[in-house]
Amino acid sequence: MSAQWIDGKKISGEIREEIKQEVARLKERGIRPGLAVVLVGDDPASQVYVRNKARTCEELGFYSEVHRLPAETSQAELLELVARLNGQDNVHGILVQLPLPKHIEEKAVIDAIAVEKDVDGFHPVSVGNMVIGDDALLPCTPAGVIELLKRSGLSAAGKHAVVIGRSNIVGKPVSLLLQREHATVTMCHSRTPNLPELARQADIIVAAVGVPKLVKADWVKPGAVVIDVGVNRLPDGKLCGDVDFDEVAKVAGWITPVPGGVGPMTITMLMKNTLKAALAKADQA
Ligand code: GUN
Repeated sequence: MSAQWIDGKKISGEIREEIKQEVARLKERGIRPGLAVVLVGDDPASQVYVRNKARTCEELGFYSEVHRLPAETSQAELLELVARLNGQDNVHGILVQLPLPKHIEEKAVIDAIAVEKDVDGFHPVSVGNMVIGDDALLPCTPAGVIELLKRSGLSAAGKHAVVIGRSNIVGKPVSLLLQREHATVTMCHSRTPNLPELARQADIIVAAVGVPKLVKADWVKPGAVVIDVGVNRLPDGKLCGDVDFDEVAKVAGWITPVPGGVGPMTITMLMKNTLKAALAKADQA
């Protein structure tokens, strides 16, 4: 038996269509969701991400502005730009692309973004609201994982989810969101001694550690759902996830490919967050 693929590209396309329809409805009320993206320096991967975000804004009818700043930009200059964007009425979401150059403290920049415009969901207040289950803009990749499960008809309720990785961007928030979906969650990381044994107990595995092909077929219970958040570049230039896809697909019930699984969902959820921020502002007015 071979696992069913969870097609992130297709699901992402469906959500984007829904967003487009919502944008058309908002247009009638004179509202256009707006996203500001800030890139400091010339990291090639970040440049690609930023370009894709701007292109997606255009496709969905959002207003967007991209600020490309030189690597030498000071922290004070960046904070000044963030403050300006916080006050700009046509910008509902602000995303400062990470990583930032070493002389800039990421935390200072994230903390400076207005919570209602924090479409990355990285601000401590957004994180706190998510933890206590209040309304919040949720971090995009973890929200994308939950959306993939839901739209594939896979309920997490009563299931045992094993999350591998404890980053602030993916591992920690996805664990909380799975718990919110009524899963029992085991959080694993680099110091977890019996990782294969724990993974084998999982109904749902989420791998987000950045180790190519770490999750092997004998780590997976037959029929389990395997979500691969990893994006690793192999020496031959090919992309691969944290899951040994070809082998695991023979055992799992459902699996996300890399590329084409979780990846396309991240920008889509960013757009959804920007739309949500625009709606919240319109409802306030
Ligand atoms: N760099 C890599 N992923 C992300 C992300 O989701 N948000 C931001 N701001 N920077 C990133």
